[in-house]
Amino acid sequence: MQDRDTTALVTERRERAAARWDLDRGVVLVPAGLMLPIAGTDQFHEYHAHPEHRYLAGVGQPGGVLAFDAGEGWTLFVPQPEAAERVWTGNGPSLAAVGDVSGLARVQAASELGGWLERRRGEPVAVIGNDDLTLRAGEYGVESWTSLEFATDEDENERLRTVVAELRRAKDANELALMREAAAATHRGHMAGLGKARAGMSERALQIEIEVEFFGAGAERTAYGSIVGGGPNAATLHFAPTAREFGEGELILVDAGAEVGGYASDVTRTYPVGARFEGVQRDLYELVLGVQERGIAGARPGIEYKELHLAASVEIARGLIDLGLLRGNAEGLVERDAQALFFPHGLGHMLGLATHDAGGCLEGRAPSDRPTLRYLRADLPLQPGYVVTIEPGIYFIRALLEDADLRERYRNDVDWGRVDELLDFGGIRIEDDVLVTEDEAEVLSAATPKSLEGIEALRAEALEA
Ligand code: GLY
Repeated sequence: MQDRDTTALVTERRERAAARWDLDRGVVLVPAGLMLPIAGTDQFHEYHAHPEHRYLAGVGQPGGVLAFDAGEGWTLFVPQPEAAERVWTGNGPSLAAVGDVSGLARVQAASELGGWLERRRGEPVAVIGNDDLTLRAGEYGVESWTSLEFATDEDENERLRTVVAELRRAKDANELALMREAAAATHRGHMAGLGKARAGMSERALQIEIEVEFFGAGAERTAYGSIVGGGPNAATLHFAPTAREFGEGELILVDAGAEVGGYASDVTRTYPVGARFEGVQRDLYELVLGVQERGIAGARPGIEYKELHLAASVEIARGLIDLGLLRGNAEGLVERDAQALFFPHGLGHMLGLATHDAGGCLEGRAPSDRPTLRYLRADLPLQPGYVVTIEPGIYFIRALLEDADLRERYRNDVDWGRVDELLDFGGIRIEDDVLVTEDEAEVLSAATPKSLEGIEALRAEALEA
């Protein structure tokens, strides 16, 4: 049985959505999505319920559909597997159990969805969530989507989706509790990484040590493919760990997060294979850490996330000037996107039911194609309850730094001789999960050490053990 507070919070989400949708007739369908087959096999990709479904239903069964009828309210349709299927996949949750978690009075077998839709044939219908319902209707037990002759309007779908995205940004107490659990599990994994990394150990072996702890601490899965890169591999932003072994003197970048109850944690730490950051590693680590700490301090209600990102970009440019890698004036370099050669991603993103959660641009704003802004995944003012990552980084990425056109464009802005010496450096990223409050931001991942001294002390202790 689900605790009453959680059920009440999920019920409130639906009430808020329905009030803001303000529909006087018609139907909204919010499918969770079907299992996705791996082509050429009889297996399936790992399942992830559509966040809009999971948010509004509080559950996320494959093939589930949350349906809203403007006159009648909400009904959740959940697949009840036949006996032959139960042999392989088990019973799945009962309708009563789903009713308990979701707080919905009407929970029906998915086999009843077709008849429910038939009775509404020709009405206005909107589909948000996973739109595979319209493409794979038969697998949802609906004979044919087109035969229902629904009146659908893509602009209306978008309006309803935008309402749900806006609601999802500020986390409720149930969501925050799960995000704290995810951050705690992630902390255990990162501590294992900091304690167990050694020269001669492979990226894959370190990934396993970290993920074992995630699962041991209650994670249901990793929030995204863990990124573990040693030496030059740390420069690849979404690097998938390999059998490559860490070398003496290298840095290791670990970007990994546990998922609990569908909610993601997303934390990055960068640390030396040895006991100390050496030379330029030290300079760059201190630069990135300072930028990150000031980014967190700036994460206050009303602050534009883009402004935080641009301020971080200027600080990185200034730091790279001080270290002799860039030349000129920091603001001017950012106007020309020169720092994006070394910091080519956004300051972070919203976090929640997805790793890159309900971000996007506020209405009336358009995404920018500028290298400085292209990968900033949210352009909006921060509000209490939002959870965002703050994750500046500096990398030596050959795909950018060996590009002849970029070298030409920035020939006077960059000390290319110095860059060439550092092409195998890899990269440094430091990332925390940050809850915006009325006052100072709360760092959900604060337990995981990141100060230079703290990391060095842990590494020294680990190597002595
Ligand atoms: N930490 C993975 C990502 O933000 O893409």
